[in-house]
Amino acid sequence: MPADLAVLGLGRTGLPLAQAATAAGVGVIGYEPDPAAAADINAGRVPPGTLAAADLRRMLAGGFRATADPAVLGRVRTAVICAPTPLGEDRALDLTAVSAAARALAGHLRPHTTVVLESAVYPGTTEGFLRPLLEADGLRAGRDFHLAYSPSRLDPGNRDFHLANTPKVIGGCTPACTEAAAAFYGRFTERIVRARGPREAEAVNLLETNYRHVNIAFANEMAVFCHDLGVDLWDVIRCAETKPFGFQAFRPGPGVGGPAAALDPNAVPLFAAMPAQGQARMLGHPLRMVELAQEVNSRMPRYVVQRAAALLNEHGKSLRGARVLLLGVTYKADLASQEGAPAREIGTRLIELGAQLCYHDPYVPQWRVLDRPVPRADSLWEAASEADLTVLLQHHRTYDLQGLAVKAQLLLDTRGATPAGAAARL
Ligand SMILES: NC(=O)c1ccc[n+]([C@@H]2O[C@H](COP(=O)([O-])OP(=O)(O)OC[C@H]3O[C@@H](n4cnc5c(N)ncnc54)[C@H](O)[C@@H]3O)[C@@H](O)[C@H]2O)c1
Repeated sequence: MPADLAVLGLGRTGLPLAQAATAAGVGVIGYEPDPAAAADINAGRVPPGTLAAADLRRMLAGGFRATADPAVLGRVRTAVICAPTPLGEDRALDLTAVSAAARALAGHLRPHTTVVLESAVYPGTTEGFLRPLLEADGLRAGRDFHLAYSPSRLDPGNRDFHLANTPKVIGGCTPACTEAAAAFYGRFTERIVRARGPREAEAVNLLETNYRHVNIAFANEMAVFCHDLGVDLWDVIRCAETKPFGFQAFRPGPGVGGPAAALDPNAVPLFAAMPAQGQARMLGHPLRMVELAQEVNSRMPRYVVQRAAALLNEHGKSLRGARVLLLGVTYKADLASQEGAPAREIGTRLIELGAQLCYHDPYVPQWRVLDRPVPRADSLWEAASEADLTVLLQHHRTYDLQGLAVKAQLLLDTRGATPAGAAARL
């Protein structure tokens, strides 16, 4: 059966998209450049952090297949690029995989195809970077094929919002491009939001991602400030969030991890100046709020270690030689991914300061810090009662914090999840 849709890149963004489309009856083919990765998916082995195995089984039963053969890309009506754009050493997004995916597609692109980019990119990338790559073989975007940008808004582990009920923002190079992409996504999403163009849709991604980082940074700054003043910030937030307008609660924590890193505008190559040639220029002036947010958030692991040392000190103990139990080493509650999780830096600093570290995490069977395995506590309550200090870094649903607060000799709660007065909170 010729597929309707090709998803290029079957990771945390691409595979759920392929799943939603397959479930809606769209014929989907997945393109992965690595044949072994494609074979794994066809054998029912899910890449970590993407889908449940049962979901992939259902997709395969519904006709979905992965392939490393770019020839299939010439037989679809819609192609969505979900290639990774990791942060490079210079903290700029690395577009190498998007470029490789675009070249694979360009070689097989047919007239009337709708091409959508979903990867996180800076404003101007779809028109200034992707478009020239796709037009290499003579077809023109807006005339011969449709081209649009649509930010991925997946929130891994979110039980309430998924692709179907999260509004989908789309910005096409022309109004017809927007409509073609809207008609496609309308098959499995409830609400389409039309942006003026790809740059606006790309800037939506920049705004949403950085909004989160900036607000978490403000909450983190408030946490440090309130602790120094002897104010219970968690109580402050509880009260503030009763305001029915003009306030959205963000909470402090031990640091920010996960795949959606803050987009550092200092290193942003903009493709706006000469989009036809695909040339980049640098922004020249940074988004200072984002810079500051990164600085504040990146200081939190160190602050947690300082608070840990101070807490032990208050109880006549030193960090050197202390048994410290870390609870939850993933970047998000109830997920297994450790991507960018602050636990690693906290663990490193604790070990460097002479603490005897162990950890507990129902999702992480083995954990290494400084290239050494960290002992895993099997019995949570026993470990908490033996440790001089227990530090809650991630509030997994399975943790009974009331019980823990009773069992632990000292408990530092970086998530404000313990009942007031039961532990030292960040
Ligand atoms: N994970 C999220 O929650 C999330 C949320 C919003 C936006 N995004 C963005 O979506 C994009 C993809 O992220 P992800 O988390 O799915 O990444 P991922 O690393 O989970 O998956 C990317 C997949 O693309 C494949 N790939 C690599 N090179 C390719 C190529 N040339 N052609 C086709 N496929 C290729 C990889 O093998 C991998 O399977 C990124 O730009 C990311 O910033 C992710």
